[in-house]
Amino acid sequence: MPLISAKSILEDANKNGYAVGAFNANNMEFLQAIFTAADSEKSPIIIAASEGAMKYAGPEMLYSMVKTLSDKYYHIPVALHLDHGSNLSAVMTAVKAGFTSVMIDASHFPYEENLKLTKQIVGICHTVDISVEAELGRLQGVEDNVSVAERDAVLVNPEEAKDFVLASGIDFLAPAIGTSHGAFKFKGEAKLDLERLKKVKELTGIPLVLHGASSVPESASNIFEEFGGNLKGAKGVPYEVLKEGIKFGINKVNTDTDLRIAFLAKVRESVSKDKSQIDPRKIFGPARDYVTEVIRERMKVLGSSGRI
Ligand code: G3H
Ligand code: 13P
Ligand code: ZN
Repeated sequence: MPLISAKSILEDANKNGYAVGAFNANNMEFLQAIFTAADSEKSPIIIAASEGAMKYAGPEMLYSMVKTLSDKYYHIPVALHLDHGSNLSAVMTAVKAGFTSVMIDASHFPYEENLKLTKQIVGICHTVDISVEAELGRLQGVEDNVSVAERDAVLVNPEEAKDFVLASGIDFLAPAIGTSHGAFKFKGEAKLDLERLKKVKELTGIPLVLHGASSVPESASNIFEEFGGNLKGAKGVPYEVLKEGIKFGINKVNTDTDLRIAFLAKVRESVSKDKSQIDPRKIFGPARDYVTEVIRERMKVLGSSGRI
């Protein structure tokens, strides 16, 4: 089927109380893993490509691979989404290449500037049915013992979110509620600010996005460490916490780190078990299969399995 905007995928998730994974990809193996998992789980998917991914693989290459796989798995609803676009030029590069959804991440700017740039991008993208995501607040963990003022300075302000959604016309919003990118998300207990999330949902009603949502599953981290890697102190968002977030309004769950750990865990295992192997396919093949497994498990947790 043709690539579709993420808006249509997320509207169903919002209506029916589940979440769809936005899985980051930079190369063929990760894309194949995402599509194979979606096929087995009968799940819609959002393929996320960052500016770094566009630089690494080329936006046209990413689009062509996604389009080819989407034609092969014609029954799977797929959106190709620019992750963390930082300016108009990056958004236009993605749009010209054929992406069907974009994120403009201007959350580090003051509110008015974030709103101005986001509105401009909504104005362009909506004329060609491309959905737009924006972000409010900063993606970083917040310790339990910080003051209310410090917490408010970092995380999303629900009233501001309401005004921002109305004024910008965005299709879905990433509210900062205590997660961060990468494998080291929490020093203490892994938790989200669910009260804040609940308020944002009540006041906006639109699909909400959890960035930094990887779970750092023990099974993958153990293999990574068994074969010489070091992930000491790594902690992700546990499955039970993800499920709570989904109950309170999260509909898009961004996942990159878990796939990276899974892939490299198996690469480490293969290269250390067979030191004279020179065929990359013997190394990347099992790594790709393991990424597929990790994605399938995640689709079940998110509730996107069986939705097509
Ligand atoms: O949110 C960031 C994603 O994990 C993409 O990371 O910019 O290294 O491609 P990247
Ligand atoms: P993780 O680092 O938790 O996988 O988050 C990825 C992400 O938010 C991509 O936008
Ligand atoms: Zn992110």
